[in-house]
Amino acid sequence: MSPHRPVIAIYPGSFDPITKGHEDLVRRTLRVTDRLVVAVSSTSTESKEHLFDINERVELIQEIFAKDDHVEVSRFDGLLVDFARDLGAQVVIRGLRAVSDFDYELQMAQMNQELGPEIETLFLVPEVEYSFLSASLVREVASLGGDVSRFVSAVVLQRLKEKIG
Ligand code: PNS
Repeated sequence: MSPHRPVIAIYPGSFDPITKGHEDLVRRTLRVTDRLVVAVSSTSTESKEHLFDINERVELIQEIFAKDDHVEVSRFDGLLVDFARDLGAQVVIRGLRAVSDFDYELQMAQMNQELGPEIETLFLVPEVEYSFLSASLVREVASLGGDVSRFVSAVVLQRLKEKIG
């Protein structure tokens, strides 16, 4: 890679909804890349029922990073490597919270390596206080009336309340 070529990273995921753990990873990524595209998948390799539809998930992330020029948000529909190629991204960012993430993440990274050998997966480790946090747990706790205000930004909390009641 040329030393002058800007590093473009993609941070893909379902982000249903974006949590403070995801936000932490975005900020960490910006320390090592020039441009970051948060790529919200409209589909998923696992068949998942989404709480927030694709437009809502994109909008929430856009609101959170509205003041950050280095962060863009986009939806993608097909293969991640195709989206990365279209953007000219060299790096895919994924978070590793615990050993339990490893098998799934390794499998995805190796499949992506097969499909797009020119694209590297970079694993980042979130702040320890977010190591147990996942969007699915946030959805579950919120739907059962638990307090998730420590785990999501205010805009997300508001939308959760509107959706779940
Ligand atoms: O936050 P998630 O649900 O763990 O994110 C998974 C995601 C969206 C990154 C993954 O399912 C994905 O890349 N989907 C796009 C389709 C694709 O490229 N599949 C092959 C990769 S193994």
